[in-house]
Amino acid sequence: MADAILQIDRVSKSFGGLIATNNITIEFERGQIHAIIGPNGAGKTTLINLLSGDLLPNDGTILFNGRDITHLPPHKISQLGIGRSYQKTNIFAEFTCFENCWVAAQSRINTSMRFFRPASNLKAVEKRTEKALELCGLSLRRDSRASAMSYGEQRQLEIGMMLATEPELLLLDEPLAGMGSEESLQVIELLRRLAEDHTLILIEHDMDAVFSIADQLTVMVNGRILETGTVGQIRSSQAVQEAYLGVDEETA
Ligand SMILES: Nc1ncnc2c1ncn2[C@@H]1O[C@H](COP(=O)(O)OP(=O)(O)OP(=O)(O)O)[C@@H](O)[C@H]1O
Ligand SMILES: [Mg+2]
Repeated sequence: MADAILQIDRVSKSFGGLIATNNITIEFERGQIHAIIGPNGAGKTTLINLLSGDLLPNDGTILFNGRDITHLPPHKISQLGIGRSYQKTNIFAEFTCFENCWVAAQSRINTSMRFFRPASNLKAVEKRTEKALELCGLSLRRDSRASAMSYGEQRQLEIGMMLATEPELLLLDEPLAGMGSEESLQVIELLRRLAEDHTLILIEHDMDAVFSIADQLTVMVNGRILETGTVGQIRSSQAVQEAYLGVDEETA
């Protein structure tokens, strides 16, 4: 691949006897939105957990910008420029939007800016925080408590917290889950804007959303990659129809 931001080579993860990701090899190109789809239990979240350092693989290597990050802990991976959101909301309910983003912003700055004086450190954290709030569209909700906001806004805030760490690569685990159609559209617009200067790896069950924004799609089934291609290629793939999309239509 011309410009791979992330290279995963023969990565496996087992839980007891269950192989959740089975010998996965894939590259993600810089600047793209690459969606990962697949039925429940396919291993999508496990893969994201391996990339963010939340889980350690049993086998294989993961390179980010050519650097081996396979065995690094989550905070180191975050500091290198990989941000992630969780399938279940992961915010501090009693904190305001600003405070939630501030905590995230300072987690990145702690070590990367440790040579600067504390006052300039604080300024830099505030600047990152304000920028993240603006990017995620919550500037006007700056001083609202997370617990007082709608579910959609809380998910938006989670994206803001991820942005406060100034990542280059965003790992998004079902950012539209549980949202109404109006809220979903807003977040899809947000993802489009973020894609202008970030690389996105997006797990999502909402097929309309995925088909409308993804540059590349990977289909996972039973811990393995079934196929990777453009939206057109995946839509017309017989194997995907049978293994995934077909199942969806039958049960709809
Ligand atoms: N911490 C864990 N311990 C044991 N088994 C796990 C653990 N995490 C995931 N699994 C199992 O690994 C398999 C893959 O799970 P994973 O959460 O990666 O699937 P997924 O593709 O994200 O599914 P969904 O679409 O439902 O979120 C499942 O069978 C799941 O039960
Ligand atoms: Mg999942």
